[in-house]
Amino acid sequence: MTKSANNNQLNANGELRHFLTIEGLNRNLLTDIMDRAETFSSVSHQHVKKVPLLRGKTVVNLFFENSTRTRTTFELAAKRLSADVINLNISTSATSKGESLLDTLHNLQAMQCDMFVVRHHESGAAEFIAANVAPHISVINAGDGCHAHPTQAMLDMFTIRRHKGAFPDLRVAIIGDILHSRVARSQIQALSTLGVGEIRVIAPKTLLPSNTNTLGVHVYHDLEAGLKDVDVIITLRLQSERMDGALIPSQREFFSRYGLTNERLALAATDAIVMHPGPINRGVEIASDVADGPQSVILEQVTHGISIRMAVMAMTLGSHAN
Ligand code: CP
Repeated sequence: MTKSANNNQLNANGELRHFLTIEGLNRNLLTDIMDRAETFSSVSHQHVKKVPLLRGKTVVNLFFENSTRTRTTFELAAKRLSADVINLNISTSATSKGESLLDTLHNLQAMQCDMFVVRHHESGAAEFIAANVAPHISVINAGDGCHAHPTQAMLDMFTIRRHKGAFPDLRVAIIGDILHSRVARSQIQALSTLGVGEIRVIAPKTLLPSNTNTLGVHVYHDLEAGLKDVDVIITLRLQSERMDGALIPSQREFFSRYGLTNERLALAATDAIVMHPGPINRGVEIASDVADGPQSVILEQVTHGISIRMAVMAMTLGSHAN
């Protein structure tokens, strides 16, 4: 599967039909997603945590790669919108008997499903699926290879907006394995589109993509220098499962040079927030006392994942009516 730069995620009215990547979406649309999520955030605090918006719709979670946060919050989001949810267990599905991805999808389509939420280890999988499903079906990318994780990026933007308000005056630092991170790629696209003042990436040369100079970011190899006066710190896991050979001497060496400790956090703005998309590896990219400390918003990010995913589901399925 290859990913195409031009995708068909918008309908003729410029509304979201699928949600595959942040690339190519404008600031108004990203702001609309966050505004819509804001309207849904109270649902999770109601006595009955449900609104009837997607009653009668069927959402299928298709996770070909492991997940805790994304899969669960997509399921909760769909249920809070009153949709029916199927979690296809890939390991016990007919995929294990040699059925192709497209044949599996066409069978689910024959069951009158309305949405596929897809996580796949291959970059471009969600776009491939979107190009091969019936027109009434929406596809949402829940993470494809090293390519994109657009709902994660949007819940991160929502968390930043909740804490910091406007984006233009912010300095944001992303630390760690940028090379293999679909999250970092989508975050950088979203931060740029929302007009963030300065985006820094802090990593050893071996964990930066070859096209870093085209991303509109400032590169730091020294963590202390990169953290100075930043407002938002995003730490990332080492994606060992995607590494081809040893790109760092050891996890211990990585933590000694790039691990976020309280001493290093003190170099950032005094009200800086600490973020991580999860799963966190304590003592590798982040110290436990920082992850659990007063500046950490890591679990808030998880909570906001539900509202953002409700917003994206409502907007994509809503666009079919127009
Ligand atoms: N952030 C994220 O994608 O986590 P999961 O792999 O648990 O879904």
